[in-house]
Amino acid sequence: MAPSLSPAEIRDANTRYHDVAADHYDTKWGIDFGEVGGAQVLAKVAKALGGEPPYFERSLEIGAGTGYFSLNLLRAGVIGRATCTDISPGMLRMLQANAQRIGAEVQTVPADAEQLPFADASFDLVFGHAVLHHIPDLPRAFGEFERVLAPGGMVLFAGEPSRYGDRLASVPKRLAGTVAPLWRAAIGAGPARLDSEDADDVALERVVDVHAFAPGELAAAARGAGLQDVRITGEELLANWFGWTNRTLEATADPDEVPWAWRQYAYRGYLALQGLDRRLLEGRLPPAIFYNLMIAARKPA
Ligand SMILES: C[S@@+](CC[C@H](N)C(=O)[O-])C[C@H]1O[C@@H](n2cnc3c(N)ncnc32)[C@H](O)[C@@H]1O
Repeated sequence: MAPSLSPAEIRDANTRYHDVAADHYDTKWGIDFGEVGGAQVLAKVAKALGGEPPYFERSLEIGAGTGYFSLNLLRAGVIGRATCTDISPGMLRMLQANAQRIGAEVQTVPADAEQLPFADASFDLVFGHAVLHHIPDLPRAFGEFERVLAPGGMVLFAGEPSRYGDRLASVPKRLAGTVAPLWRAAIGAGPARLDSEDADDVALERVVDVHAFAPGELAAAARGAGLQDVRITGEELLANWFGWTNRTLEATADPDEVPWAWRQYAYRGYLALQGLDRRLLEGRLPPAIFYNLMIAARKPA
């Protein structure tokens, strides 16, 4: 956590940063609500649970963003009634627009994960993707997840940065930074022009990411809230190194001058390496070294 900021300041920075990010979020992260996105989300959920997901009637998503998980899970029939929360109203507006576009029905509620405006035992599944690392007081948030879950309900979070995975990913990032001028020359792109808004964005980015986790820390937060059958899994190693290399290179170039063929190569390569990670590495290596951690747990029945 940034040492000089209070939890309230971190929450405020998250709201402002994600409100601004909302408009270009789906393009930046390649978020998809079709076949590709659906398969990605289902694979993550199955991995976190250790098998095919059952049906959950009432779901609550924390930090739902533009709807990557809830909308894809709705389409796949894994969840029945979707309630989507986020601290950023801007993200929830995009989520509603996405839902309308694909013909899905969701309820959106602006809410901080540490203070959920729902009655006890209201949901069968509480879940999220890439959100826990933004939350200042994780034990308090897990206490809320447990409170709003019905007995026997599940908690599931994916896409959380792992501490060692994050350190390992700094190697390709540094290498990419070094070779970036050569890469730009090779693809014929000029350097990025960083305006003051971009600089603000970069500064806020350092503030909004407050954790990278060791697997034991996530497990302890869940157990501390009274959850059981805690399962931690890791995913993405090669795909992540490839992804960070490309994202670091691309960030140095004028986005309008990065050729379409390069973007296709980066996107397809990432998907191919995700498959390789899944088949060859995940399940064989310890969760701690992967870039993303997942946690699944159950509220006692
Ligand atoms: C990295 S984005 C992920 C969005 C979405 N889950 C996805 O995977 O595309 C993190 C999301 O968490 C939200 N967030 C950050 N802090 C939060 C908090 N304390 N409570 C609820 N949501 C929060 C942000 O506004 C943002 O939409």
